[in-house]
Amino acid sequence: MTMKTIYFDYNATTPIGPEVLKEMLPYLKKHYGNPSSSHIIGKAAKEGVEKARQRVANLLGCEISEIIFTSGGSEANNIALKGVAEILKAKGNHIITSQIEHPAIINPCKYLERKGFNVTYLPVDQYGMVDPDDVKKTITPKTILITIMHANNEVGTIQPIADIGKIARKHGILFHSDAAQTIGKIETKVEKLKVDLLSIAGHKFYAPKGVGVLYIRKGTKLEPLIHGAGHESGRRAGTENVASIVGLGKAAKIAGKDLNKYRGQVFELREKLYHGIIDKVERLKLNGHPIKRLPNTLNLSFAGVDSEGMLAKMKNIALSTGSACHAGHKEPSKVLLAMGVEPNLALGAVRFSLGKYNTQREIDQIISILSGLINKIRRKKL
Ligand SMILES: Cc1ncc(COP(=O)(O)O)c(C=O)c1O
Repeated sequence: MTMKTIYFDYNATTPIGPEVLKEMLPYLKKHYGNPSSSHIIGKAAKEGVEKARQRVANLLGCEISEIIFTSGGSEANNIALKGVAEILKAKGNHIITSQIEHPAIINPCKYLERKGFNVTYLPVDQYGMVDPDDVKKTITPKTILITIMHANNEVGTIQPIADIGKIARKHGILFHSDAAQTIGKIETKVEKLKVDLLSIAGHKFYAPKGVGVLYIRKGTKLEPLIHGAGHESGRRAGTENVASIVGLGKAAKIAGKDLNKYRGQVFELREKLYHGIIDKVERLKLNGHPIKRLPNTLNLSFAGVDSEGMLAKMKNIALSTGSACHAGHKEPSKVLLAMGVEPNLALGAVRFSLGKYNTQREIDQIISILSGLINKIRRKKL
């Protein structure tokens, strides 16, 4: 009997939830109107978009006027960084970020460096944590933006966002956070986080790919990235991706309602996975913060194992060695290197990211398959 594929790569992407798909379908068929049209067909589409906006605002604890829809997390990050840089360039040219951000932050920063901005890439400690004191020390009169991710996609470490937010507000500097990995996993209320801008990616919490959100705190001015007609209050032109936005809205509602249930369920499975592996496999290292970490994420380095080669042998198990965006590379993860993990151990890293459809049976299966394989690989080497 062939084994069903086991999916442990929810930080790369999630399947679309069945309730989400159900909510979307009428907007792919019956409600095909352009939300900007004033007739009845257009109005139905607009209502779908506005209901979704309200649901996202409820999840983040903000006003509907503070939400714009984008094509995903990357676009939201790009609007935030380039939009602030463009509008505040006369005030200053310094941006603060960290060394462990997703490429969707690092690369807009590199672009801005080519345009004459100075970017400070703050180091992290052995757990992948940014020190708010480092942020404070790095601020100059020219600093216009601080951008630090809410939680890291590879190791799951949750950053002290509220502390950094306090520092940013005290100095009158805009603060952005990439929350692509945290929606539905931990609390994401913008007032608690003290952010001015927050990015979300639909496909990380059971909505479709190609849709996201940027929260823009009231009064925050940004130059749009996409110029055109006046969609999204003139902040992001283009006819809205109605069905996907409706799906994102439904997923946001579920994320808020089920946060505690989901957090508990996934955390329990992850802990069983961790303890099951350490019972059977020696010489491994936990990457990421032992406590301040996403409840679904477990990143382990196995000494003497090439994790990319090992995953290739596990045909029916979907796992990642780093972030999905750079899967296939033989280079050690930059995030792990920034945390001081030795290159050889970084090459032996496996990221397990669990989601709400994982089961106890799958945990038992992966423990048995993985431990058998690692012990075999090591024996052959000896
Ligand atoms: C932390 C983080 N930011 C941004 C993104 C990019 O989001 P999207 O794929 O929706 O552009 C991802 C997805 O991998 C991510 O994990």
